[in-house]
Amino acid sequence: MSVPDPKPIIVALDYAAETPALALVEQLDPRHCRLKVGKELFTRCGPAFVETLHQRGFEVFLDLKFHDIPNTVAAACAAAADLGVWMVNIHVSGGLRMMEAARARLSGLDNPPLLIGVTVLTSFDAQDLAAIGCAGDPRERVVTLARLAARAGLAGVVCSPLEAALVRAELGADCVLVTPGVRPLGAAVDDQKRVMTPARALAAGADYLVIGRPITQAPDPGAALLDIEQSLQGL
Ligand code: C5P
Repeated sequence: MSVPDPKPIIVALDYAAETPALALVEQLDPRHCRLKVGKELFTRCGPAFVETLHQRGFEVFLDLKFHDIPNTVAAACAAAADLGVWMVNIHVSGGLRMMEAARARLSGLDNPPLLIGVTVLTSFDAQDLAAIGCAGDPRERVVTLARLAARAGLAGVVCSPLEAALVRAELGADCVLVTPGVRPLGAAVDDQKRVMTPARALAAGADYLVIGRPITQAPDPGAALLDIEQSLQGL
């Protein structure tokens, strides 16, 4: 992204029910973060929960990673746009026609969500990729998919912070890079394997940082968010 967003933190609401999710949300300030709603919470709580977050002033990244035939994905993206979400994502491996159909459906709308492509899931290693017929270096595959996303006119891609510099070099300044796998210095790594601090991830070229447990499991989530924000000042 050529102009940095002053609000780069997206808090991942990884909860199985509305009550604990809202208890966390009450401790956060929409002037300091956006929220990510994924498959579990959305499947349990649905569009009404997204509406609740909007009413509380938050912008929402609807992380449903659509992957289907072009018509179905385009329709699902239109439904996400009707919900008024700020960002929605689709799998780049769904192919060029699927991505173009989604982009075309959104491009006619007023204020459409940012359409972001998922490259290679960070849960995949070279062996996993080979097993689904995609042998080779996962980093090369990330770049191939990121290029395809750009060709389809997507706003940007999700990638690991360790690939951010490579993808930024390939796709240039305009592409929006969203990176999970971010951990403040001293925070538990949890089940993430390859992590970077928030400041390093932004310096490597990320525009938005998806951060879950370092904020959601902190004794004071609001303070944890502000600490991370402060670590980004002056970058
Ligand atoms: O708690 P933590 O900061 O690890 O949460 C990261 C969030 O980003 C989770 O919602 C996880 O599902 C998501 N994510 C990820 N790695 C990816 C894509 C999404 O960790 N490659």
